Amino acid sequence: MPYGKPTQESALTKPVSITTLRKMKSEGNKFVCVSLYDAPMAAMAQKTGIELLLVGDSLGMTVLGYDDTIPVTMEHMIYHVEAVRRGNNKSMIMGDLPFMSYATPEQAMINATRIMQAGAHMVKLEGGEWIAETVKMLTDRGIPVCGHIGLTPQYVNKFGGFRVQGRNEQQAEIIYNDARMLEEAGADLLVMECIPSSLAKTITESLDIPTIGIGAGKDTDAQVLVINDILGLTEKPPKFSKNFLEETASIPGALMKYAEDTRNRIFPAEENIFV
Ligand code: KIV
Repeated sequence: MPYGKPTQESALTKPVSITTLRKMKSEGNKFVCVSLYDAPMAAMAQKTGIELLLVGDSLGMTVLGYDDTIPVTMEHMIYHVEAVRRGNNKSMIMGDLPFMSYATPEQAMINATRIMQAGAHMVKLEGGEWIAETVKMLTDRGIPVCGHIGLTPQYVNKFGGFRVQGRNEQQAEIIYNDARMLEEAGADLLVMECIPSSLAKTITESLDIPTIGIGAGKDTDAQVLVINDILGLTEKPPKFSKNFLEETASIPGALMKYAEDTRNRIFPAEENIFV
């Protein structure tokens, strides 16, 4: 294999689908998601048995060096989705729709189609009630959707910074209702970011679709972390993340430890949780 092109050995015997993830929820088995951006990491995730990959628009910060996700474009996303897909043929891959690429349902259709044609199996959109119409339109036409609520990074300027959401009763009720509306509209998965763990637990128990937490406590159906945080590449790591490379001697070891600790409910620990 010239120049270290990743091979596709696999701990996953069959391609992962929405059905796999729903079954895992119904059987009480946690699944694992990593936000990553290139072929070698995608290949390593396959070797490690990571069920779900997110090509997140966090790449604006982690790869491209921006302060937030606002500058990320469709071209950036497509380039990275294609790379991840080349490195992995078993995990389920979801791609973020970047800032303002789904401001109307029609725009969302065009841009979600591009992400799917780049190799994703699903798209992720940030927002609550206002994206329900878009979620219905996409899912009715065969594009699976993952919603993203709580601290939605594309709203950083509206939130006035990266802050925990849903700490007061009124905010918590809005987030809860958003979750229900997204499921009703046809969403297949739901990411909940930086919300109190009790709220994430209530939402997880009231939905049929699997929930994925990041800074949302122990009781979600799955966890997601950004690869840079797992590998200790982030100078000021967020409270909800953990450097797993510190405890292991290698990159595959760090991914494996993250996956095992998530499945065994060791991660997130009390210090990673918001109340
Ligand atoms: O962009 C991203 O990586 C994400 C995760 C942090 C959930 O949205």
